[in-house]
Amino acid sequence: MRALCLLCWAVLLNLVRTCPEPCDCGEKYGFQIADCAYRDLEGVPPGFPANVTTLSLSANRLPGLLEGAFREVPLLQSLWLAHNEIRSVAVGALAPLSHLKSLDLSHNLISEFAWSDLHNLSALQLLKMDSNELAFIPRDAFRSLRALRSLQLNHNRLHALAEGTFAPLTALSHLQINDNPFDCTCGIVWFKTWALASAVSIPEQDNIACTSPHVLKGIPLGRLPPLPCSAPSVQLSYQPSQDGAELRPGFVLALHCDVDGQPVPQLHWHIHTPGGTVEIASPNVGTDGRALPGALTTSGQPRFQAFANGSLLIPDFGKLEEGTYSCLATNELGSAESSVNVALATPGEGGEDAVGHKFHGKAVEGKGCYTVDNEVQPSGPEDNVVIIYLSRAGPPEAAIAADGRPAQQFSGILLLGQSLLVLSFFYF
Ligand SMILES: *[C@@H]1O[C@H](CO)[C@@H](O)[C@H](O)[C@H]1NC(C)=O
Ligand SMILES: *[C@@H]1O[C@H](CO)[C@@H](O)[C@H](O)[C@H]1NC(C)=O
Ligand SMILES: *[C@@H]1O[C@H](CO)[C@@H](O)[C@H](O)[C@H]1NC(C)=O
Repeated sequence: MRALCLLCWAVLLNLVRTCPEPCDCGEKYGFQIADCAYRDLEGVPPGFPANVTTLSLSANRLPGLLEGAFREVPLLQSLWLAHNEIRSVAVGALAPLSHLKSLDLSHNLISEFAWSDLHNLSALQLLKMDSNELAFIPRDAFRSLRALRSLQLNHNRLHALAEGTFAPLTALSHLQINDNPFDCTCGIVWFKTWALASAVSIPEQDNIACTSPHVLKGIPLGRLPPLPCSAPSVQLSYQPSQDGAELRPGFVLALHCDVDGQPVPQLHWHIHTPGGTVEIASPNVGTDGRALPGALTTSGQPRFQAFANGSLLIPDFGKLEEGTYSCLATNELGSAESSVNVALATPGEGGEDAVGHKFHGKAVEGKGCYTVDNEVQPSGPEDNVVIIYLSRAGPPEAAIAADGRPAQQFSGILLLGQSLLVLSFFYF
């Protein structure tokens, strides 16, 4: 009995090694073919001979492709997976198939695709991904596909394409990308230009059309009117900046990032202080200075208040807020950044700003304020260096506090590049 069972196992193992039970395996024109189409399969069956070069799993019910799904068949050249229920293709499912020339994944439900696996498929000539739920293609997805001749992406959910997406496809002769809900903003203009100039055959171009914005709905990309598009530019200014303005302790430092660009750029602040780095997606407060819902703060008022109009207010500016303030504007066409270094200093003793520029100051005769020897040489691209110079100038006769104590006068000096601005405030 036991001997008989061992025999069963041996037969079974042999069968398994020859061809998975639901499939037909055979040889044709020198190709080793495994046909598992129309079998109601819910997974890739095990047991393929290692020399299979063509595998059809079309018209089954595969829900996804897991890592190592085709580990048994590393020599595959053609893989047919159309008309399944695949939603996701995991990292490592396709990467081992470095001999793959044809891959058909059309008519599935793919929204999650391991684009990085394509980097290993340098032999690929045909890639069909029509009728899926792809909403996004990374800019470098096709960077290794130098043998790809035909790419089919019809009927997905693509609304944007990163500039240069198809540039690495030097062998491409055929592209289909109809029936996607393209958002015809500045970010897509490159594709129109590329398609018009390209030698690649792109059939049915009238079906590559805009879905949004509303005014352009249905317009084929090839007939897109010129759009007003410009990359961002930024200019950073700050207050207090008026000569002679009175500053009191706890003054508010106001930086203003003047942003240009079409479409309107997204604004981010990057703040590097000795205490750490803060990144703020602007705005984080409403016009009343209270935190917007969703902004990460414990109290009602964030330490750095980024307003929608491009202003950044720092109430009670002090030593802890010294540092580098950068505003970064980004839109579909690019980005621009401007930085300012802000430091608080005491004259005579001198000091160092947050980026290590050394400076010191000296009294101006007869006046209760100080100037700074301009040793702060702007260096590098961030030529904005602001020193807020708060100095103890001794008690001036005129300024006496209500409780009879003499007021201590401080002066603040702002340095912007080579220009010198003098500010002063009284500290009771
Ligand atoms: C593949 O391997 C099987 C045995 O597993 C063999 O019969 C067949 O000839 C091989 N086919 C090719 C194309 O090498
Ligand atoms: C990519 O293909 C090579 C063979 O060309 C293979 O050795 C390697 O394991 C593959 N990478 C992955 C991640 O599977
Ligand atoms: C931006 O808005 C804030 C709050 O309303 C205001 O304090 C600030 O002055 C404004 N900035 C400019 C440049 O108008």
